[in-house]
Amino acid sequence: MAAMNPLLTKVFRGPLDLNGPVIGRLFYLFEYARAYVEERHEAFDARFGTDTSAPVFEHHQKTSVHFYVPTTASVIYEIIGSLPLTPNKFTFIDMGSGKGRALLVASEFPFTKIVGVELSSYLHHVAEENIKRYKPSSQQCAAFELHCMDALDYAYGEEPFVLFLFDPFGREILEKIIANLEATLRARPREAYVVYVYPQYDDLFQNSSVLRRVREASPKWQPWNQYVVYAASAGTATGDQGAADTQLPVTAASKAA
Ligand SMILES: C[S@@+](CC[C@H](N)C(=O)[O-])C[C@H]1O[C@@H](n2cnc3c(N)ncnc32)[C@H](O)[C@@H]1O
Repeated sequence: MAAMNPLLTKVFRGPLDLNGPVIGRLFYLFEYARAYVEERHEAFDARFGTDTSAPVFEHHQKTSVHFYVPTTASVIYEIIGSLPLTPNKFTFIDMGSGKGRALLVASEFPFTKIVGVELSSYLHHVAEENIKRYKPSSQQCAAFELHCMDALDYAYGEEPFVLFLFDPFGREILEKIIANLEATLRARPREAYVVYVYPQYDDLFQNSSVLRRVREASPKWQPWNQYVVYAASAGTATGDQGAADTQLPVTAASKAA
């Protein structure tokens, strides 16, 4: 998380990593309880007949592959609703898409395409089923593209994009993901936003010469709902101010309570 003391961050790495073999199990139990309470409050799955709430810790999971737990639905609405996007111009990409909750919420905004990239074949399959079930009348994009693959191998398309990350990987992998991201933005400058929820390795983004921070939220007692938003400098360099002034509408009908 952004506010995490660097010393604490160091202490928690290795065997005591939040996703590691020791602390990871305790953290998982905490997240299980949190997700249960949140579902009682927001009733995301209850309303849409989906299966996104329960966390999943796969037995063979490496420490660098963070276990599945969904982003709080209301936070996803808040984040996407606050982005100054041009409707029908951006692709939404969730790297580490898990059971697909962020993809489902994104489908209520007029993205051109919604891409999920997930390493686990089990979670990938659950996301496919969730997409079949999720049919609110407020849905504005049904062009889903799900990839069961390592996010490190993902090749960006040519269009502007929103990259969504809910603390999916460890530091070393995130470093490589950022290097790939910077390479595509340098090769083809275009508008792009990066949303990083529970940004425990935010320092890596702060060092980027391609991205600049445009928004952050740090609810003190809910570190899992902290997030930062970065914009590609290339996006503003094009002078596309029309795009920057347009807000996407949030559909109140299905917005989380
Ligand atoms: C904390 S969950 C986020 C779930 C989802 N993005 C959401 O917001 O509801 C992190 C996910 O990242 C996936 N993941 C971790 N490392 C990955 C990698 N290298 N490539 C693709 N997915 C990965 C995990 O399997 C897990 O489902």
